[in-house]
Amino acid sequence: MSYTRSAIVTGGTMNLGYHAAMTIARQHPDWLVVVCSRSDREHAAESINEALKQSNTVFMPLDLSSSKSVRDFARNWSAKNHPPVQALCLNAALQFPGKIVYTPEGLEATFAITHVGHALLFHLICSHLAQNARIVITSSGTHDPAINSGLPVAIYTTGEELAHPPPAIAEGPGRRHYANAKLANILWTYALHKRLSEKVPDRSITVNAFDPGLMPGTGLAREASPLMRWAWDKVMPKITPVLRVTFTDNIHRPEESGASLARLAISPGTEGISGKYFEGTKEICSSKDSYDEKKIEDLWQWTVKYCAQDEAEAAHFEQLR
Ligand SMILES: NC(=O)c1ccc[n+]([C@@H]2O[C@H](COP(=O)([O-])OP(=O)(O)OC[C@H]3O[C@@H](n4cnc5c(N)ncnc54)[C@H](OP(=O)(O)O)[C@@H]3O)[C@@H](O)[C@H]2O)c1
Repeated sequence: MSYTRSAIVTGGTMNLGYHAAMTIARQHPDWLVVVCSRSDREHAAESINEALKQSNTVFMPLDLSSSKSVRDFARNWSAKNHPPVQALCLNAALQFPGKIVYTPEGLEATFAITHVGHALLFHLICSHLAQNARIVITSSGTHDPAINSGLPVAIYTTGEELAHPPPAIAEGPGRRHYANAKLANILWTYALHKRLSEKVPDRSITVNAFDPGLMPGTGLAREASPLMRWAWDKVMPKITPVLRVTFTDNIHRPEESGASLARLAISPGTEGISGKYFEGTKEICSSKDSYDEKKIEDLWQWTVKYCAQDEAEAAHFEQLR
């Protein structure tokens, strides 16, 4: 079959990403829908195809913690001549609640997977984005100290310090890196929006950040202690109605949040919206820090410098072509 467009969903093999990919594939049987992550243990693409009685979803391996893997993915993408990417959902993430974890390249792992790998992926496949392409970046309400999520408060000093945290942060709680990385997702969304609208307005590409809300039972707690994992996997999904009343109404099943993510990526109702932050289907303000121009610029510049192999590639990344 020859497809008209492509959609890429990172972390599309499980939970939030899986359900977003399923919704996109259902609504666009004429698109190639690519779910990517390190492994496809549950045969996500096959499962989506079977459920929809279609064959337009495929799995492609991608490890966002490795720049080589991201570059291999992008090289493979270019070589295959896939149709233009209409929807790019940068969704994968992991939490490391214990001691700080570094990637083999020496970056703090949460930030590497959640932000750096996604930014590199965007830059490398930017030329394959369709006219009017939409980029949706999955963030989290935990980036915002004002909502009292229970996570340590996000602290953005510089991109360099998120990548290579100084001792005071490196030795602090592991979940702070998650809150920081989710704040980085939003800062980078705003930086990218600004550049897309100033440098390549003719491409009409949009980018928004998205909070799916709390989704107990997903793989996000896989690195947590056995007790926490048990509560997350077995208890919390069963008491969701109670949590909704006592803790937050921003709590959903992955199916529901997956539909909200897909809405931003493909619904006619969200066409043309860019540079915004959504909690589910609701546009809201992100944290005070996330609008700090200095932080937005610092992260953009650090990211281009880090991701590019040389000055020529950095200049190419800045062109957004
Ligand atoms: N669950 C929540 O309560 C909640 C709340 C707010 C925001 N979120 C956000 O929602 C998004 C999805 O989370 P989820 O709860 O659906 O988590 P999940 O069930 O753990 O799914 C995460 C997905 O990301 C992939 N992934 C992990 N590490 C990767 C890597 N290095 N390279 C490529 N892919 C990788 C995983 O596959 P592999 O492990 O096979 O690579 C999996 O497909 C995340 O951005 C998360 O921060 C979740």
